[in-house]
Amino acid sequence: MSWTRFSNHSTGVGDRSVLSDTLEKMTFPSSFPFLLEKRHGRRDYDGVSVTLYAGEHVSEEETIFSISEGHLDSGLRGIPVGTCQTSYVDPIEGVHYVGYPVGDLANLEEEDVIFLLLHKRLPDSDESAAFRKELAHRGEEMPNGALRVLEHLTPGSGHPMDWLSIGIMAMGAAETTGDVRVDSMNLIARMPELMARIFLLRGGHPEKIRPRNTELGLVENFVHMLGVDGEEAEMMNRVLRFFFILHMDHGGGNLSTFSGKAVASGRASVYASLASAMNALSGPLHGRANQACLEFVQRIGTSDPKEIEDFVRSELAARRPIYGFGHGVLRAEDPRARLLIELGSEVCPDDEYYKIAKALREVVPPILKEHPKISNPYPNVDLASGSLLHAIGFRKPNYYTTFFGWARVAGICAQILDERNARDGRGVPIYRPKYIARD
Ligand code: MLT
Repeated sequence: MSWTRFSNHSTGVGDRSVLSDTLEKMTFPSSFPFLLEKRHGRRDYDGVSVTLYAGEHVSEEETIFSISEGHLDSGLRGIPVGTCQTSYVDPIEGVHYVGYPVGDLANLEEEDVIFLLLHKRLPDSDESAAFRKELAHRGEEMPNGALRVLEHLTPGSGHPMDWLSIGIMAMGAAETTGDVRVDSMNLIARMPELMARIFLLRGGHPEKIRPRNTELGLVENFVHMLGVDGEEAEMMNRVLRFFFILHMDHGGGNLSTFSGKAVASGRASVYASLASAMNALSGPLHGRANQACLEFVQRIGTSDPKEIEDFVRSELAARRPIYGFGHGVLRAEDPRARLLIELGSEVCPDDEYYKIAKALREVVPPILKEHPKISNPYPNVDLASGSLLHAIGFRKPNYYTTFFGWARVAGICAQILDERNARDGRGVPIYRPKYIARD
């Protein structure tokens, strides 16, 4: 198959049909040598110089990275441990799914992007329809009472991420086939119902749930099951679908994906692996940062640049975190942040929290640049996501990480499948890094 170079420029918030036309004309290789891309040459990651090789195979003996004392106890930061076919994160250009800059995919149907992550190419229209039908069918086949355990939790108890993790385990307890593809597809298909039930049960309104509608897509079904209609539903569908696609995958090494794959490498079930991934995502340094960021925006309470500057400086002086900025890999503005800000200017330009997020984008980087130890002073994906979710009607920030987790299920399942099929079907062995004994 030939490889037509994909665009380097995100198309941003654009017309879905135009994007689909453009994408259909492209052809792709059956797999992408993401980690080993020549055009990157020698790059610096967190001050560590790494040589990234060309797509052609490197011999197994060749040194691609050397470990020094400073790498120990650094959270594996920047240390290559495997290959990833679903996506890669360029420090400057951000995440690409199977070679596409994420902005080029952000206005597609979410099912087509899931297909892309699983099959490493976009579907044609027949494949797209068949894939959607399969998901709808698997959603319908949810075992009776699979989520009954959630009904026994006290409404409002714990964190919504606890409920997400428990819900995934409950689905696995009700039915695990042991076939990684089947279990992944079942989980992806049944997530909208799990999400809707968490929202309504936790909120104390289980009676409001509407039966799923097989004609609807994943995001639409969630909104429908919540009981939302009309213009409000349209807006939710638009923003949630966009959010969903932007959060589906972020390379192989982000904490939730890595944790899910680590658990899966011991041949635990897809459900156990994904519940572990959700637990990893629930930390404030990872997925829960989107909740923390909106709470931060709410504390600021003004979009006046001068007042924001004073607030940020006082937070820094008190050694408190500035949410929505910085990243472990990125060294420029996260394109997902830009795309969400652009979407906000379309759907909620006058929303107060959105205006604060937008002002933070301008005010904060120059302040953070005054601190030489801050390696990335630029906005990340969490900066505006919460303000958009708030603007479309999701008023409680503690639910925001569940949207991130729901989206990430597809990427993590796709990566687990790839690791299971690696090494000519033998699979990646059980993870077992080495720790050096110290007194
Ligand atoms: C993510 O999307 O997972 C976050 O940006 C964190 C990461 O990539 O490490």
